[in-house]
Amino acid sequence: FEVSWDAAAAEKGGWPSFMAKEVSEEPEAVANTVRGRVQDGAVVIPELDGLDELFRDIDRVIITACGTAFYAGMVGKYALEAWARVPVDVELAHEFRYRDPVIGARTLIVSISQSGETMDTLMAVKYAAEQGARTLSICNTQGATIPRESDAVVYTHAGPEVAVASTKAFVAQITALLLLGLHVGRVRETLPADASDDVTGLEALPEKIAQLLDEEQEHVEQLASWMADTRSVLFLGRNVGYPIAMEGALKLKEISYIHAEGFAAGELKHGPIALIEPGQPVFVIVPSPRHSALVHSKVVSNIQEIRARGARVIAVAEEGDAAVLPFADEVIRIPLAGPFLEPVLAVVPLHLFAMGLANAKGLDVDQPRNLAKSVTVE
Ligand code: G6P
Repeated sequence: FEVSWDAAAAEKGGWPSFMAKEVSEEPEAVANTVRGRVQDGAVVIPELDGLDELFRDIDRVIITACGTAFYAGMVGKYALEAWARVPVDVELAHEFRYRDPVIGARTLIVSISQSGETMDTLMAVKYAAEQGARTLSICNTQGATIPRESDAVVYTHAGPEVAVASTKAFVAQITALLLLGLHVGRVRETLPADASDDVTGLEALPEKIAQLLDEEQEHVEQLASWMADTRSVLFLGRNVGYPIAMEGALKLKEISYIHAEGFAAGELKHGPIALIEPGQPVFVIVPSPRHSALVHSKVVSNIQEIRARGARVIAVAEEGDAAVLPFADEVIRIPLAGPFLEPVLAVVPLHLFAMGLANAKGLDVDQPRNLAKSVTVE
C-alpha cells in the first residue's frame, strides 16, 4: 500500500518536515530518556541491575558507533572518564572491527546506534563479544539487532526518528551516556561530591532546551537564511565542545550540501587557521567560564585569532558570557548547565542552523541525497 501525501503530512503533525518536528521534540526526547532512571537524587538504571560487579571490574571502555552516534560517544568519553574513572576510547565501528584491538574480559564495549541496525556497529559488537569483551548498547529502537546481540541495553526513549539526519536521537544518546556515567560512577564509588548537581541538572535539561528553542530558533533561522549562499562553514570547539563542532559540521554536510569542517580549537594553529580568509563563517562553541576560566579564555583567544584574519564569528555561548561580545558577529545564547550537560544545549542551535540553511536552499531536509537513515550494508 502507498502512503499518501496526506498521511505523511498528518504524521508530521503540522510541522513542515519530520526534521522540524523532531528538533521540536528534543526536550521530550531528553525527558523520556531520563525518566525512571533517577532515584533519591542518584542515577539508577534499572536495566543495568545485576551488573555492579562487572562495572567494578572493568579496566577499559571502548565506545563504538558511526555517524552522529559517534560524536555522542565522544561526549560520553569525557563524562565517563570524569565520573567513573575508567579509561575510555571512542572508535568508529568500521575502523574498530578491521584491526586487531587489545580487548578482553575486562573491556566493556559500549555501542551507540539510533536504529540498532547499522551493519558496521553490529559487526563491531559481534567481533568484540567473540574476543571475550562484555557489550552494552545504547539504542533507540526496541528489540533491534544490536541490543539483541549485546549483554545489556540502555534504551534512549527519543521516539521514532524519521528524518535521515539524526537530531532528537543525538541529544537522547548523550543523555543516556551521561546517565551511564553517573550510574557506573556511583557503583565504582568514583563520583565527585558535586555529582548530585549533575543529576538535578539532567532533570532540568528538557526545560532548558525548550527555553533555548523558544529564545533562539527565530534568530538562528534568520541567520541561516542570510547565509543561504555560503559555500563553506567551519566549526570550532574544545573539550566537550569539540564533538559538538564535529556534529554541527556533519549536519550541515548531510542536509545542506555545504562544505563544513569541525575542528578542535587547539588545532587551529596546526592547519585550519590557513583556511581563514575575510568573510569565512566560523561557529565557535564557547565553554562556560564558570566551569573553567582557563579553557574559556583559550577559546576566547581562538576567537580573537580568527577574527583578526577576517572570520565572521558566530559564537554559541552561555547566557551572561560578555567576554565574547567584542569579537563575535553573532552570539547565540544557551542556558546555564553543568560541564558535561552543556553540549546537549550547544548542539540545538547547530541542528536549527543546518535545517534553516537547507530550507533556505529549498532542499528536502528529511531525505537528503545519497544518504539512508540506516546503513545496513557494509
Ligand atoms: C546513517 C544516518 C545517520 C546516523 C548513522 C548511524 O549514516 O544517516 O544519521 O547517524 O547512520 O546510525 P545509527 O542508527 O547506528 O545511529
